[in-house]
Amino acid sequence: MYSSLRRTQFCFIRYKIVMPIKLEARTTLPSNNKAYAKKEYWEERFATEESFEWLVSYDDIAIKLEKYLPRDKADPILLVGCGNSNFSYDIFCKGDFTNITSIDYSENVIDAMKYKYSEYPELKWICADMTELDEDAFPVDSFACVIDKAAMDALMSEVRLTYLVHYVEN
Ligand SMILES: C[S@@+](CC[C@H](N)C(=O)[O-])C[C@H]1O[C@@H](n2cnc3c(N)ncnc32)[C@H](O)[C@@H]1O
Repeated sequence: MYSSLRRTQFCFIRYKIVMPIKLEARTTLPSNNKAYAKKEYWEERFATEESFEWLVSYDDIAIKLEKYLPRDKADPILLVGCGNSNFSYDIFCKGDFTNITSIDYSENVIDAMKYKYSEYPELKWICADMTELDEDAFPVDSFACVIDKAAMDALMSEVRLTYLVHYVEN
């Protein structure tokens, strides 16, 4: 994963929840956590959901995040599994970064984000699977920083279970 991004600063946002968080609407909750690892789940959810911020907002962590972000505000930043959160826009608008690429494997959400932020050329939206990045589109060292907020959690929702079953069986 991320093979094209060697020597890049990584920022995995995992958050110990010590504050009340916005809960998902009942309509978007899957019957089984494994659904979070399925592209079909996200496509269906993003067909109707306009915006949802997982874990934390930019404002919640702006100060802590600062040390991981590039010094040069024009350096390219990649957000993986961006969903329909405002995080990319906030990094641009509040953090003053001017070269932000956001990827997600859901075509529905990438289309929606392109439309929503069409006035901002500083924000690029690309439909791509973060586990299979094409080195032509994402050459080695092309980003100064990669931010993952809750995307790995989605990927791992299936893996963790498999690991647990494996552990129990052995
Ligand atoms: C829990 S949401 C997090 C969304 C957003 N980062 C946030 O913090 O609000 C997980 C996101 O990861 C995306 N995703 C899951 N697996 C992916 C993959 N292999 N490649 C790209 N995006 C993926 C989903 O489509 C979804 O938008």
